[in-house]
Amino acid sequence: MRISVIGCGYLGAVHAASMVELGHEVVGVDVDEKRVAALCAARAPFYEPGFEDLLQRALATGRLGFSTDVADAAGAQVHFLCVGTPQKHGEYAADLRYVDAAVESLLAVLQPGEVVAGKSTVPVGTAARLADLVGGKVPGALVAWNPEFLREGFAVQDTLHPDRLVYGLPAGPDGGTAERLLDEVYAPIVARGTPKVATDYATAEMVKTAANSFLATKISFINAMAELCEATGADVKQLADAIGHDDRIGRRFLNAGLGFGGGCLPKDIRAFMARAGELGADQALTFLREVDNINMRRRIRMVELAREVLDGSLLGKRVAVLGAAFKPDSDDIRDSPALNVAAQLQLQGAVVRVTDPAAVDNGRREWPHLDFAATPEEAAERANAVLVLTEWRQYRELDPVAFGEVVASRRVLDGRNALDREAWTAAGWTYRALGRRAG
Ligand code: UGA
Repeated sequence: MRISVIGCGYLGAVHAASMVELGHEVVGVDVDEKRVAALCAARAPFYEPGFEDLLQRALATGRLGFSTDVADAAGAQVHFLCVGTPQKHGEYAADLRYVDAAVESLLAVLQPGEVVAGKSTVPVGTAARLADLVGGKVPGALVAWNPEFLREGFAVQDTLHPDRLVYGLPAGPDGGTAERLLDEVYAPIVARGTPKVATDYATAEMVKTAANSFLATKISFINAMAELCEATGADVKQLADAIGHDDRIGRRFLNAGLGFGGGCLPKDIRAFMARAGELGADQALTFLREVDNINMRRRIRMVELAREVLDGSLLGKRVAVLGAAFKPDSDDIRDSPALNVAAQLQLQGAVVRVTDPAAVDNGRREWPHLDFAATPEEAAERANAVLVLTEWRQYRELDPVAFGEVVASRRVLDGRNALDREAWTAAGWTYRALGRRAG
Protein backbone atom coordinates (compact mmCIF):
# COMPACT_ATOMS: atom_id res chain seq x y z
CA MET A 1 0.00 0.00 0.00
CA ARG A 2 0.98 3.60 -0.37
CA ILE A 3 1.03 5.34 3.00
CA SER A 4 1.84 8.82 4.22
CA VAL A 5 2.93 9.75 7.73
CA ILE A 6 2.45 13.38 8.71
CA GLY A 7 4.81 14.39 11.50
CA CYS A 8 8.18 12.61 11.79
CA GLY A 9 9.05 12.98 15.46
CA TYR A 10 9.43 10.01 17.71
CA LEU A 11 6.14 8.43 16.83
CA GLY A 12 6.01 9.30 13.13
CA ALA A 13 9.59 8.48 12.14
CA VAL A 14 9.43 5.07 13.79
CA HIS A 15 5.97 4.44 12.36
CA ALA A 16 7.06 5.38 8.83
CA ALA A 17 10.08 3.07 8.84
CA SER A 18 8.06 0.29 10.47
CA MET A 19 5.37 0.50 7.79
CA VAL A 20 8.09 -0.10 5.18
CA GLU A 21 9.17 -3.15 7.17
CA LEU A 22 5.57 -4.37 6.87
CA GLY A 23 5.88 -4.12 3.07
CA HIS A 24 4.41 -0.72 2.26
CA GLU A 25 5.60 2.28 0.30
CA VAL A 26 5.81 5.25 2.65
CA VAL A 27 6.41 8.97 2.55
CA GLY A 28 7.06 10.80 5.80
CA VAL A 29 6.24 14.51 5.84
CA ASP A 30 7.54 17.00 8.38
CA VAL A 31 7.83 20.79 8.43
CA ASP A 32 11.28 20.60 10.09
CA GLU A 33 13.85 20.68 7.26
CA LYS A 34 16.73 19.55 9.44
CA ARG A 35 14.82 16.53 10.64
CA VAL A 36 13.81 15.57 7.11
CA ALA A 37 17.40 15.95 5.90
CA ALA A 38 18.67 13.72 8.72
CA LEU A 39 16.05 11.05 8.04
CA CYS A 40 16.78 11.11 4.29
CA ALA A 41 20.46 10.60 5.14
CA ALA A 42 19.53 7.57 7.30
CA ARG A 43 20.46 9.39 10.50
CA ALA A 44 18.13 9.15 13.48
CA PRO A 45 17.30 12.66 14.74
CA PHE A 46 16.83 11.22 18.27
CA TYR A 47 18.27 8.38 20.33
CA GLU A 48 16.21 5.23 20.07
CA PRO A 49 17.74 1.75 20.21
CA GLY A 50 17.32 -0.11 16.91
CA PHE A 51 15.76 2.80 15.06
CA GLU A 52 18.72 3.78 12.91
CA ASP A 53 19.15 0.18 11.68
CA LEU A 54 15.47 0.00 10.84
CA LEU A 55 15.67 3.36 9.04
CA GLN A 56 18.67 2.27 6.99
CA ARG A 57 16.98 -1.00 6.07
CA ALA A 58 13.80 0.81 5.10
CA LEU A 59 15.57 3.44 2.98
CA ALA A 60 17.58 0.74 1.20
CA THR A 61 14.36 -0.83 -0.10
CA GLY A 62 13.65 2.38 -2.05
CA ARG A 63 10.14 2.36 -0.58
CA LEU A 64 10.71 5.09 2.00
CA GLY A 65 11.03 8.81 1.40
CA PHE A 66 10.81 11.95 3.53
CA SER A 67 9.68 15.38 2.45
CA THR A 68 8.76 18.81 3.76
CA ASP A 69 6.03 19.12 1.14
CA VAL A 70 2.65 17.65 1.97
CA ALA A 71 1.96 17.41 -1.79
CA ASP A 72 4.17 14.30 -1.68
CA ALA A 73 1.50 12.62 0.44
CA ALA A 74 -0.83 12.63 -2.57
CA GLY A 75 -2.01 9.22 -3.63
CA ALA A 76 -1.55 7.50 -0.27
CA GLN A 77 -4.45 5.27 0.72
CA VAL A 78 -3.89 5.92 4.41
CA HIS A 79 -2.47 9.14 5.89
CA PHE A 80 -1.25 8.70 9.45
CA LEU A 81 -1.29 11.79 11.68
CA CYS A 82 1.68 11.61 14.03
CA VAL A 83 2.17 15.21 15.13
CA GLY A 84 2.64 16.29 18.74
CA THR A 85 -0.08 17.45 21.12
CA PRO A 86 1.90 19.26 23.85
CA GLN A 87 0.43 20.92 26.89
CA LYS A 88 -0.79 24.47 26.19
CA HIS A 89 1.23 27.22 27.79
CA GLY A 90 -0.34 28.31 31.03
CA GLU A 91 -3.10 25.71 31.10
CA TYR A 92 -3.66 21.98 31.34
CA ALA A 93 -5.39 21.43 28.01
CA ALA A 94 -3.67 19.88 24.99
CA ASP A 95 -2.54 22.18 22.23
CA LEU A 96 -4.12 20.88 19.03
CA ARG A 97 -2.64 23.41 16.64
CA TYR A 98 -0.29 20.87 15.00
CA VAL A 99 -3.08 18.34 14.51
CA ASP A 100 -5.34 20.98 13.03
CA ALA A 101 -2.59 22.31 10.76
CA ALA A 102 -1.72 18.79 9.57
CA VAL A 103 -5.32 18.00 8.67
CA GLU A 104 -5.75 21.39 7.03
CA SER A 105 -2.68 20.79 4.85
CA LEU A 106 -3.81 17.27 3.96
CA LEU A 107 -7.13 18.55 2.62
CA ALA A 108 -5.30 19.81 -0.46
CA VAL A 109 -4.22 16.29 -1.47
CA LEU A 110 -6.89 14.08 0.06
CA GLN A 111 -9.11 12.03 -2.27
CA PRO A 112 -12.40 10.19 -1.69
CA GLY A 113 -11.81 6.69 -0.36
CA GLU A 114 -8.61 7.63 1.44
CA VAL A 115 -8.37 7.41 5.22
CA VAL A 116 -6.84 9.92 7.62
CA ALA A 117 -5.76 7.76 10.57
CA GLY A 118 -4.93 9.75 13.70
CA LYS A 119 -2.23 8.36 15.97
CA SER A 120 -1.58 11.49 18.03
CA THR A 121 -2.95 11.53 21.59
CA VAL A 122 -5.94 13.87 21.48
CA PRO A 123 -8.76 14.98 23.78
CA VAL A 124 -11.89 12.90 23.34
CA GLY A 125 -14.11 14.52 20.70
CA THR A 126 -11.28 15.53 18.37
CA ALA A 127 -11.74 12.69 15.86
CA ALA A 128 -15.45 13.45 15.44
CA ARG A 129 -14.68 17.14 14.89
CA LEU A 130 -12.00 16.31 12.31
CA ALA A 131 -14.29 13.80 10.59
CA ASP A 132 -16.87 16.56 10.10
CA LEU A 133 -14.22 18.84 8.68
CA VAL A 134 -12.72 16.21 6.35
CA GLY A 135 -16.09 14.88 5.21
CA GLY A 136 -17.27 18.42 4.51
CA LYS A 137 -14.29 19.30 2.37
CA VAL A 138 -13.58 15.96 0.68
CA PRO A 139 -16.77 13.88 0.60
CA GLY A 140 -15.90 10.20 0.73
CA ALA A 141 -12.61 10.68 2.58
CA LEU A 142 -12.70 9.04 6.02
CA VAL A 143 -11.22 9.61 9.45
CA ALA A 144 -10.18 6.83 11.84
CA TRP A 145 -8.43 7.04 15.22
CA ASN A 146 -5.70 4.49 15.78
CA PRO A 147 -3.87 5.37 19.02
CA GLU A 148 -0.27 4.36 19.53
CA PHE A 149 1.08 2.82 22.73
CA LEU A 150 4.80 2.77 22.02
CA ARG A 151 7.27 3.43 24.80
CA GLU A 152 10.42 5.41 24.15
CA GLY A 153 13.39 3.07 24.33
CA PHE A 154 11.24 0.24 22.92
CA ALA A 155 9.64 2.17 20.06
CA VAL A 156 10.62 -0.20 17.25
CA GLN A 157 9.59 -3.33 19.11
CA ASP A 158 6.33 -1.75 20.29
CA THR A 159 5.42 -0.58 16.77
CA LEU A 160 6.16 -3.86 15.03
CA HIS A 161 4.86 -6.07 17.85
CA PRO A 162 2.12 -4.09 19.58
CA ASP A 163 0.17 -5.82 22.33
CA ARG A 164 -3.10 -4.57 20.84
CA LEU A 165 -4.53 -2.62 17.92
CA VAL A 166 -7.24 -0.08 18.58
CA TYR A 167 -9.34 1.38 15.77
CA GLY A 168 -11.79 4.20 16.35
CA LEU A 169 -14.07 4.01 13.32
CA PRO A 170 -16.85 6.05 11.75
CA ALA A 171 -20.37 4.71 12.15
CA GLY A 172 -22.08 2.70 9.40
CA PRO A 173 -20.52 1.17 6.28
CA ASP A 174 -17.70 3.74 6.29
CA GLY A 175 -16.52 2.05 9.47
CA GLY A 176 -16.11 -1.25 7.59
CA THR A 177 -14.20 0.46 4.78
CA ALA A 178 -11.77 2.14 7.18
CA GLU A 179 -11.34 -1.07 9.18
CA ARG A 180 -10.46 -3.07 6.07
CA LEU A 181 -7.84 -0.51 5.05
CA LEU A 182 -6.26 -0.48 8.51
CA ASP A 183 -6.28 -4.29 8.58
CA GLU A 184 -4.43 -4.23 5.28
CA VAL A 185 -1.85 -1.80 6.69
CA TYR A 186 -1.26 -4.01 9.71
CA ALA A 187 -1.78 -7.33 7.87
CA PRO A 188 1.22 -9.22 9.38
CA ILE A 189 0.35 -7.95 12.86
CA VAL A 190 -3.33 -8.87 12.45
CA ALA A 191 -2.35 -12.29 11.09
CA ARG A 192 -0.35 -13.01 14.26
CA GLY A 193 -3.61 -12.81 16.19
CA THR A 194 -2.78 -9.52 17.92
CA PRO A 195 -5.85 -8.50 19.91
CA LYS A 196 -7.87 -5.85 18.11
CA VAL A 197 -10.51 -3.52 19.47
CA ALA A 198 -12.64 -1.90 16.75
CA THR A 199 -14.80 0.75 18.28
CA ASP A 200 -16.13 4.31 17.98
CA TYR A 201 -13.98 7.44 17.95
CA ALA A 202 -14.57 8.46 21.57
CA THR A 203 -13.67 5.05 22.99
CA ALA A 204 -10.50 4.83 20.90
CA GLU A 205 -9.40 8.29 22.01
CA MET A 206 -10.14 7.45 25.61
CA VAL A 207 -8.32 4.10 25.51
CA LYS A 208 -5.10 6.02 25.07
CA THR A 209 -5.60 8.60 27.80
CA ALA A 210 -7.09 6.00 30.15
CA ALA A 211 -4.06 3.72 29.65
CA ASN A 212 -1.58 6.50 30.38
CA SER A 213 -3.63 7.67 33.35
CA PHE A 214 -3.66 4.16 34.76
CA LEU A 215 0.12 3.86 34.37
CA ALA A 216 0.66 7.25 36.02
CA THR A 217 -1.66 6.25 38.85
CA LYS A 218 0.21 3.00 39.38
CA ILE A 219 3.51 4.87 39.67
CA SER A 220 2.07 7.47 42.02
CA PHE A 221 0.44 4.75 44.10
CA ILE A 222 3.77 3.10 44.81
CA ASN A 223 5.37 6.50 45.39
CA ALA A 224 2.66 7.31 47.93
CA MET A 225 3.55 4.00 49.61
CA ALA A 226 7.19 5.13 49.52
CA GLU A 227 6.21 8.24 51.51
CA LEU A 228 4.57 6.00 54.08
CA CYS A 229 7.58 3.70 54.11
CA GLU A 230 9.74 6.70 54.90
CA ALA A 231 7.41 7.54 57.79
CA THR A 232 7.35 4.00 59.16
CA GLY A 233 10.77 2.58 58.35
CA ALA A 234 9.31 0.02 55.94
CA ASP A 235 10.96 -0.81 52.60
CA VAL A 236 9.06 0.15 49.45
CA LYS A 237 11.04 -2.12 47.15
CA GLN A 238 10.17 -5.23 49.15
CA LEU A 239 6.62 -3.97 49.47
CA ALA A 240 6.35 -3.64 45.66
CA ASP A 241 7.86 -7.11 45.16
CA ALA A 242 5.40 -8.61 47.60
CA ILE A 243 2.23 -6.97 46.29
CA GLY A 244 3.45 -7.45 42.70
CA HIS A 245 3.32 -11.23 43.12
CA ASP A 246 -0.45 -10.89 43.02
CA ASP A 247 -1.28 -11.19 39.31
CA ARG A 248 -4.15 -8.79 39.72
CA ILE A 249 -1.68 -6.10 40.78
CA GLY A 250 1.46 -7.09 38.84
CA ARG A 251 5.02 -5.91 39.50
CA ARG A 252 5.48 -3.79 36.36
CA PHE A 253 5.25 -0.01 36.75
CA LEU A 254 5.59 -0.37 40.50
CA ASN A 255 9.10 1.03 40.70
CA ALA A 256 9.13 3.71 43.35
CA GLY A 257 11.53 6.59 42.98
CA LEU A 258 11.61 9.98 41.40
CA GLY A 259 8.36 9.43 39.54
CA PHE A 260 7.24 9.89 35.99
CA GLY A 261 8.28 12.52 33.46
CA GLY A 262 8.57 12.67 29.69
CA GLY A 263 6.47 14.02 26.89
CA CYS A 264 3.43 11.82 27.55
CA LEU A 265 2.31 10.80 31.03
CA PRO A 266 2.45 14.25 32.72
CA LYS A 267 0.76 16.18 29.92
CA ASP A 268 -1.73 13.42 29.13
CA ILE A 269 -3.17 13.25 32.64
CA ARG A 270 -3.47 17.05 32.70
CA ALA A 271 -5.15 17.21 29.29
CA PHE A 272 -7.51 14.43 30.41
CA MET A 273 -8.49 16.47 33.49
CA ALA A 274 -8.99 19.58 31.38
CA ARG A 275 -11.18 17.72 28.91
CA ALA A 276 -13.23 16.14 31.71
CA GLY A 277 -13.81 19.68 33.04
CA GLU A 278 -15.06 20.85 29.65
CA LEU A 279 -17.42 17.88 29.56
CA GLY A 280 -18.77 18.62 33.05
CA ALA A 281 -17.26 15.40 34.39
CA ASP A 282 -14.27 16.85 36.25
CA GLN A 283 -15.16 15.05 39.50
CA ALA A 284 -14.39 11.74 37.83
CA LEU A 285 -10.76 12.70 37.42
CA THR A 286 -9.97 14.76 40.52
CA PHE A 287 -7.87 11.81 41.70
CA LEU A 288 -5.47 12.53 38.83
CA ARG A 289 -4.64 15.85 40.45
CA GLU A 290 -3.43 13.87 43.45
CA VAL A 291 -1.51 11.52 41.15
CA ASP A 292 0.23 14.60 39.73
CA ASN A 293 0.85 16.02 43.22
CA ILE A 294 2.39 12.84 44.56
CA ASN A 295 4.60 12.70 41.48
CA MET A 296 5.85 16.26 41.81
CA ARG A 297 6.44 15.83 45.57
CA ARG A 298 9.03 13.15 44.85
CA ARG A 299 11.29 15.71 43.21
CA ILE A 300 11.07 18.01 46.22
CA ARG A 301 11.72 15.08 48.55
CA MET A 302 14.82 14.15 46.56
CA VAL A 303 16.26 17.63 47.04
CA GLU A 304 15.47 17.44 50.77
CA LEU A 305 17.14 14.06 51.00
CA ALA A 306 20.24 15.45 49.32
CA ARG A 307 20.32 18.32 51.81
CA GLU A 308 19.90 15.87 54.69
CA VAL A 309 22.75 13.69 53.47
CA LEU A 310 24.94 16.75 52.94
CA ASP A 311 24.76 17.65 56.63
CA GLY A 312 21.86 20.07 56.33
CA SER A 313 23.14 22.46 53.68
CA LEU A 314 23.56 22.40 49.93
CA LEU A 315 25.60 25.59 49.79
CA GLY A 316 28.85 25.04 47.95
CA LYS A 317 28.48 21.24 48.03
CA ARG A 318 29.61 19.39 44.93
CA VAL A 319 26.85 17.15 43.64
CA ALA A 320 27.07 14.72 40.73
CA VAL A 321 23.81 13.93 38.97
CA LEU A 322 23.87 10.72 36.94
CA GLY A 323 21.06 10.89 34.41
CA ALA A 324 19.40 13.70 32.48
CA ALA A 325 16.95 11.81 30.25
CA PHE A 326 13.46 11.25 31.66
CA LYS A 327 14.16 7.53 31.48
CA PRO A 328 16.97 5.22 30.31
CA ASP A 329 17.53 4.40 26.63
CA SER A 330 16.27 7.80 25.57
CA ASP A 331 17.72 11.25 24.96
CA ASP A 332 14.35 12.83 25.70
CA ILE A 333 14.56 15.42 28.47
CA ARG A 334 10.99 16.69 28.31
CA ASP A 335 9.77 17.13 31.90
CA SER A 336 12.76 15.14 33.09
CA PRO A 337 12.61 14.55 36.85
CA ALA A 338 16.42 14.25 36.88
CA LEU A 339 17.01 17.70 35.38
CA ASN A 340 14.30 19.20 37.51
CA VAL A 341 16.12 18.00 40.64
CA ALA A 342 19.52 19.04 39.27
CA ALA A 343 18.26 22.57 38.63
CA GLN A 344 16.67 22.84 42.09
CA LEU A 345 19.90 21.72 43.73
CA GLN A 346 21.86 24.27 41.77
CA LEU A 347 19.38 27.05 42.57
CA GLN A 348 19.79 26.20 46.24
CA GLY A 349 23.54 26.67 46.09
CA ALA A 350 24.99 23.27 45.22
CA VAL A 351 27.70 22.95 42.58
CA VAL A 352 26.03 20.49 40.23
CA ARG A 353 27.51 18.45 37.38
CA VAL A 354 25.15 16.36 35.29
CA THR A 355 25.99 13.48 33.00
CA ASP A 356 23.99 11.16 30.77
CA PRO A 357 24.96 8.57 28.14
CA ALA A 358 22.65 10.12 25.49
CA ALA A 359 21.00 13.32 26.65
CA VAL A 360 23.90 15.69 27.37
CA ASP A 361 23.50 17.62 24.10
CA ASN A 362 19.77 18.08 24.60
CA GLY A 363 20.41 18.96 28.25
CA ARG A 364 22.94 21.63 27.38
CA ARG A 365 20.62 23.17 24.84
CA GLU A 366 17.56 23.33 27.08
CA TRP A 367 19.33 23.94 30.41
CA PRO A 368 22.34 26.09 29.50
CA HIS A 369 22.92 27.19 33.10
CA LEU A 370 23.64 23.61 34.20
CA ASP A 371 27.12 22.13 33.98
CA PHE A 372 27.38 18.88 32.01
CA ALA A 373 30.10 16.22 31.94
CA ALA A 374 30.75 13.40 29.50
CA THR A 375 31.23 10.56 31.97
CA PRO A 376 30.09 9.61 35.47
CA GLU A 377 33.70 9.80 36.67
CA GLU A 378 34.06 13.33 35.36
CA ALA A 379 30.74 14.39 36.88
CA ALA A 380 31.63 12.83 40.23
CA GLU A 381 35.16 14.16 40.58
CA ARG A 382 35.57 15.34 44.18
CA ALA A 383 31.78 15.17 44.65
CA ASN A 384 30.30 15.34 48.13
CA ALA A 385 27.33 13.28 46.96
CA VAL A 386 26.29 11.31 43.90
CA LEU A 387 22.63 11.21 42.82
CA VAL A 388 21.53 8.49 40.42
CA LEU A 389 18.39 9.95 38.89
CA THR A 390 17.94 7.95 35.65
CA GLU A 391 18.52 4.22 35.86
CA TRP A 392 20.75 3.71 32.80
CA ARG A 393 22.39 0.27 32.73
CA GLN A 394 25.79 2.00 32.79
CA TYR A 395 24.95 3.48 36.19
CA ARG A 396 23.38 0.33 37.59
CA GLU A 397 26.58 -1.50 36.68
CA LEU A 398 29.03 1.04 38.10
CA ASP A 399 31.66 -0.57 40.31
CA PRO A 400 31.12 1.14 43.67
CA VAL A 401 34.70 0.38 44.75
CA ALA A 402 36.43 1.99 41.76
CA PHE A 403 33.87 4.78 41.57
CA GLY A 404 34.50 5.52 45.23
CA GLU A 405 38.05 6.58 44.36
CA VAL A 406 36.77 9.53 42.33
CA VAL A 407 34.52 11.22 44.86
CA ALA A 408 35.33 13.33 47.90
CA SER A 409 32.81 11.49 50.07
CA ARG A 410 31.04 8.24 49.47
CA ARG A 411 27.41 9.25 49.64
CA VAL A 412 24.99 7.94 47.04
CA LEU A 413 21.32 8.76 46.59
CA ASP A 414 19.51 6.20 44.51
CA GLY A 415 16.63 8.14 42.97
CA ARG A 416 15.35 5.12 41.06
CA ASN A 417 15.91 2.28 43.54
CA ALA A 418 18.12 0.79 40.87
CA LEU A 419 21.47 0.19 42.58
CA ASP A 420 22.63 -2.87 44.48
CA ARG A 421 22.39 -1.42 47.97
CA GLU A 422 24.48 -4.16 49.56
CA ALA A 423 27.35 -3.75 47.08
CA TRP A 424 27.43 0.02 47.56
CA THR A 425 27.29 -0.09 51.33
CA ALA A 426 29.94 -2.84 51.36
CA ALA A 427 32.18 -0.45 49.38
CA GLY A 428 31.81 2.12 52.13
CA TRP A 429 29.09 4.27 50.63
CA THR A 430 26.29 5.85 52.62
CA TYR A 431 23.27 4.70 50.62
CA ARG A 432 19.97 6.56 50.65
CA ALA A 433 16.89 6.00 48.52
CA LEU A 434 13.31 7.20 48.43
CA GLY A 435 11.07 4.89 50.44
CA ARG A 436 13.88 2.82 51.92
CA ARG A 437 15.82 2.81 55.15
CA ALA A 438 19.28 4.36 55.16
CA GLY A 439 21.89 1.77 54.26
C1 UGA B 1 4.34 6.18 27.95
C2 UGA B 1 3.51 4.89 27.96
O1 UGA B 1 4.17 3.90 28.76
C3 UGA B 1 3.34 4.36 26.54
O2 UGA B 1 2.51 3.21 26.54
C4 UGA B 1 2.69 5.46 25.68
O3 UGA B 1 2.52 5.04 24.34
C5 UGA B 1 3.57 6.69 25.72
O4 UGA B 1 3.73 7.15 27.07
C6 UGA B 1 2.88 7.76 24.91
O5 UGA B 1 1.83 8.24 25.32
O6 UGA B 1 3.35 8.06 23.81
P1 UGA B 1 6.96 6.73 27.78
O7 UGA B 1 6.58 8.16 28.01
O8 UGA B 1 7.90 6.38 26.69
O9 UGA B 1 5.64 5.86 27.48
O10 UGA B 1 7.60 6.21 29.12
P2 UGA B 1 7.23 5.15 30.26
O11 UGA B 1 8.03 3.93 30.07
O12 UGA B 1 5.78 5.01 30.43
O13 UGA B 1 7.82 5.92 31.52
C7 UGA B 1 7.27 7.17 31.93
C8 UGA B 1 7.94 7.67 33.17
O14 UGA B 1 7.55 6.89 34.29
C9 UGA B 1 9.46 7.66 33.16
O15 UGA B 1 9.92 8.89 33.69
C10 UGA B 1 9.81 6.50 34.06
O16 UGA B 1 11.06 6.68 34.68
C11 UGA B 1 8.68 6.53 35.06
N1 UGA B 1 8.41 5.23 35.71
C12 UGA B 1 8.05 4.16 34.97
C13 UGA B 1 8.50 5.13 37.09
O17 UGA B 1 8.83 6.11 37.79
N2 UGA B 1 8.25 3.92 37.68
C14 UGA B 1 7.88 2.84 36.97
O18 UGA B 1 7.65 1.77 37.58
C15 UGA B 1 7.79 2.95 35.58
